[in-house]
Amino acid sequence: MTAFRTVPGDGPLRLVVVGAGQMGRNWLRAIGSSALVEAVGVVDLDLAAAEDAAPPSAVVGRTLAEVVDRSGPDAVVNVTIPEAHLPVTGEALRRGLPVLSEKPMAATPAEALALVRIAEETGELLAVSQNRRFHSGLWELRRLAGQLGRAGILTHEFFKAPHFGGFREVMANPLVLDMAIHNFDAARFLLGAEPVAVYCEEYNPGWSWYGGDAAATAIFEMTGGVRFVYTGSWCSPGLETAWNSRWRLSAERGSATWDGEGRPVAERTGGAPATADAVDDYPGDDLLGSLTLFVRALRTGEAPMGECHDNLRSLAMVHAAIASASRGERVRIDEVLAAAEADVGRLLTAG
Ligand SMILES: NC(=O)c1ccc[n+]([C@@H]2O[C@H](COP(=O)([O-])OP(=O)(O)OC[C@H]3O[C@@H](n4cnc5c(N)ncnc54)[C@H](O)[C@@H]3O)[C@@H](O)[C@H]2O)c1
Repeated sequence: MTAFRTVPGDGPLRLVVVGAGQMGRNWLRAIGSSALVEAVGVVDLDLAAAEDAAPPSAVVGRTLAEVVDRSGPDAVVNVTIPEAHLPVTGEALRRGLPVLSEKPMAATPAEALALVRIAEETGELLAVSQNRRFHSGLWELRRLAGQLGRAGILTHEFFKAPHFGGFREVMANPLVLDMAIHNFDAARFLLGAEPVAVYCEEYNPGWSWYGGDAAATAIFEMTGGVRFVYTGSWCSPGLETAWNSRWRLSAERGSATWDGEGRPVAERTGGAPATADAVDDYPGDDLLGSLTLFVRALRTGEAPMGECHDNLRSLAMVHAAIASASRGERVRIDEVLAAAEADVGRLLTAG
């Protein structure tokens, strides 16, 4: 059990949001719609962006130090770019503030592990929002899976064709690095299993408008011998899947499918339908699910989904897949975590 400092109280949790870009604005909207939280400060290197995005009563500034001193928050939400996650989250934790971070926890597994160490050292909670876990269909699929016996194969398809412009069209590994962490994390959630090793190929279809590889197929071995077969593409026009992908679980006593939007369906051996139990403790959709669990964690001490020790394994899946594709061989998740461990001392000394 991971222990962290709790924040007693029953009013809204006072938050400073760092990063007022596209996703920061989504966070501010979600925070504004929830009675559990309140945005008391907004930070961005681009002051005009912070001013434009902030609610009227919030303190606005260019640095975390300045805004924290003036607003006295209970916690920080980090929605900066991944390269800024180590310095921003690290500073917030060291100032005695718990952090809810956008994915990825940090730009590399070693940087993420450095943050895990800082969270341990300071006793503050660090959680990563994997907002795509929070869809009632995915939770129902997980409950259905629980009725079908041992899982064997989980297959996943993500086919979309967005023209984002900007950094995604020039970065290396745009699909695996920027998007697939959601799906890898969801597979761990669905199966209740941990990644062991992966074989991955990344490629760029001839018509792709992305500079880096916009498509990938990966086979993960999960604990218990389950295989999670991931296929995805950012440049597949026609019959696009939902943003939450298309899933199929093949298990010992039946199968279940989900189209990523509606309700999943399941069939037992012999053809009878399977139905899920009533909804369990579902915390709400999308960013509200992450916020609810973060607030509950700080009020009760119950570790939230995305707690940093746990989330490190979702991040390691991403980097193991990229290493596998570049080396053309199967890569163990332990290897990625050991390499991060070897590097973390240097980062903590430098920081
Ligand atoms: N969960 C999702 O569905 C989802 C979707 C999009 C983006 N994201 C994640 O959200 C984060 C932000 O992405 P975005 O698309 O909003 O990026 P963005 O570039 O639109 O915005 C980032 C903002 O952070 C600011 N910033 C950068 N470094 C800073 C620092 N050190 N201090 C203060 N401000 C700083 C920038 O000025 C910019 O305004 C990333 O981690 C990204 O992966 C998640």
